Amino acid sequence: MGARLKRWIKMFLPESCLTVYWRWRNRRQSNAERFGDIYRRKLWGGDQSADVFSGVGSSLEVVGPYIESVRGVLAGRPRPAVVEIGCGDFGVGSRLTDLAGRYTACDAVPELIERNRRLFMGDNLRFVTVDAVTDPLPPGDLVIVRQVFQHLRNDQIQRIVKKLAQYRTWIICEPYRARRISSRTSTSCRGRAIDWR
Ligand SMILES: C[S@@+](CC[C@H](N)C(=O)[O-])C[C@H]1O[C@@H](n2cnc3c(N)ncnc32)[C@H](O)[C@@H]1O
Repeated sequence: MGARLKRWIKMFLPESCLTVYWRWRNRRQSNAERFGDIYRRKLWGGDQSADVFSGVGSSLEVVGPYIESVRGVLAGRPRPAVVEIGCGDFGVGSRLTDLAGRYTACDAVPELIERNRRLFMGDNLRFVTVDAVTDPLPPGDLVIVRQVFQHLRNDQIQRIVKKLAQYRTWIICEPYRARRISSRTSTSCRGRAIDWR
């Protein structure tokens, strides 16, 4: 569809019709396609000359206190095997790897994983293409999920949360309040508490 026609449709169609269309489109796309498209079109903003950007929530000014507190958790353990789900541009994860025995960074977008492999190196570091909804998750002691669930549907989140049971420790950080978690999600956590900040 031509760009002009798209603009014209957006101008004249009511917001509710557009929302229905986007929901329909999201359901048809895989997470690799959907998030790959977001990165390619730079829909998360930031410096448009940068090759990729995982959103303002991942910029250094915002993540400083988060990185500090996660480093505190990692430092209190004997070099845990860390798995990060939805590692994005790895701006955040790259500041944690020195405290891990092994760090496995996963994302659904293969091009992003290729790009991270080129840019970040370390004997203890591995990048893997994983759609956490549909694929098995790599083994580890501690799992990190930051600003990923906020982009997924509840049924997708539930499928991921069930798989998190294999890790001893979870660090989940999403910018929503606890009352937003449905009771079904909590039961699938097998009684483990999610520290939802
Ligand atoms: C907003 S970015 C956050 C990146 C990083 N966690 C951070 O805090 O900077 C969300 C990332 O989650 C990834 N993602 C979304 N759904 C996923 C899924 N089902 N499996 C793996 N990665 C996923 C996206 O490709 C994107 O890179």
